[in-house]
Amino acid sequence: MKFFLDTANIDEIREGASLGIVDGITTNPSLISKEGRDLEDIAREICDIVNGPISLEVVSTVSEEMIEEGRRLSKIHKNVVVKIPMIREGLKALHVLSQEGIRVNVTLIFSASQALLAAKNGAAIVSPFVGRLDDISLNGLDLVSDILTIYENYDYDTEVLVASIRHPLHVLEAATMGAHIATMPIKVLNQLLKHPLTNIGLQQFLADWENQKKLESTE
Ligand code: G3P
Repeated sequence: MKFFLDTANIDEIREGASLGIVDGITTNPSLISKEGRDLEDIAREICDIVNGPISLEVVSTVSEEMIEEGRRLSKIHKNVVVKIPMIREGLKALHVLSQEGIRVNVTLIFSASQALLAAKNGAAIVSPFVGRLDDISLNGLDLVSDILTIYENYDYDTEVLVASIRHPLHVLEAATMGAHIATMPIKVLNQLLKHPLTNIGLQQFLADWENQKKLESTE
């Protein structure tokens, strides 16, 4: 499973990258706005830190403008994946951009039918938002499972990127299903590696080691 960080914050990206397990980055207009900096500057800086797909989202909602914006974003760096929302105009833009060989991540996916249409139009990646479905009492991971089944039925190459991840179980269950990518906040990445028994066990090992050393030095 590929691990992406869902952030535009450079400190968080550096922190995740230093662990060696970050394969890519996803951003969205909310995350970019939070940084209060120019999108292209942020994107270039991210591309210098992480050598993998970096999703940058268009903010136009008319297909012709989405296409122009997508072409412009894709020229920032070879690793840029253009993120397009799953709306009617987005589906048209996806068709054109994917025909031009531009990799597109179709975002704001909330149903299997949307994911099917995105794959048919050549999406490189689809992003089902699991946490936001859970928020309205629907099971977000059921959607991921349905999409994976449909893509397997028809041998689609489109990768399923599980987004809107809120906790480690989202990642583990998505991995159990065979989802290709999980994008998560740095908090979830850190939660994945922690276990209280690891810390307790390590403290015991080190204490035993120190005690033995003290005994040896008094002999
Ligand atoms: O990748 C999509 C993600 O940024 C949305 O997450 O937590 O705002 O639903 P959230």
